[in-house]
Amino acid sequence: MAPRGRFITFEGGEGTGKTTQVGRLAECLSQSGIECVVTREPGGTDGAQAIRELVVSGAGDRWGPVSEALLMYAARRDHVDRVIKPSLASGKWVLCDRFSDSTLAYQGYARGLGADWVRELDRLSLNGFKPDLTLLLDLPVSEGLSRASARGGPDRFELLGHEFHEDLRRAFLDIAAMEPDRVVILSAEGSVDAVAERVKDAVQSRFALTGPAK
Ligand code: TMP
Repeated sequence: MAPRGRFITFEGGEGTGKTTQVGRLAECLSQSGIECVVTREPGGTDGAQAIRELVVSGAGDRWGPVSEALLMYAARRDHVDRVIKPSLASGKWVLCDRFSDSTLAYQGYARGLGADWVRELDRLSLNGFKPDLTLLLDLPVSEGLSRASARGGPDRFELLGHEFHEDLRRAFLDIAAMEPDRVVILSAEGSVDAVAERVKDAVQSRFALTGPAK
């Protein structure tokens, strides 16, 4: 039986470059002979992608925070069952653009549901399933939002205002401080290459990048 793959998530506010860095890490792992699956949340399965269309588009007040959190977890459970766990079991590494920490930061902290409420929902939905490593890409809010607006029209979350995004940044940093063994904070400032190097160092310092995980 293949050894289980590693589950690595990327987190951070808008415009921090997560999607680009997920792609760069996937290239780097493939060059080391590690097979990986690149995915994102909300999304990653047909059902979760349909939920994504519902939550990222429309007016800022289209969903209340409880509904939003439940939609995120409906999508997540489907994604974990159909893609993430089977891939890990077959020895592939899974690189996921956002995961549970995003619900904790966005709905739990920034939208005010409370961390305990979201943690309980997480426990009920995923029964303790967590990433092996989470890379938090951290960037000053003004820079993140200007990068995000440069790449196209804003989605519901980008429209929520500067203060919301400051709360969000603080929330991610708090989450990282609470779980320092799992969550590594990386500066997202500088060039794509410079950040990719930080990402690679963080992964390499945890896991051997030689063929399938031992
Ligand atoms: P993306 O822009 O990183 O693709 O993510 C889509 C939006 O969904 C983003 O603004 C963050 C938001 N989101 C939440 O509010 N809660 C969640 O649990 C996840 C996964 C995303």
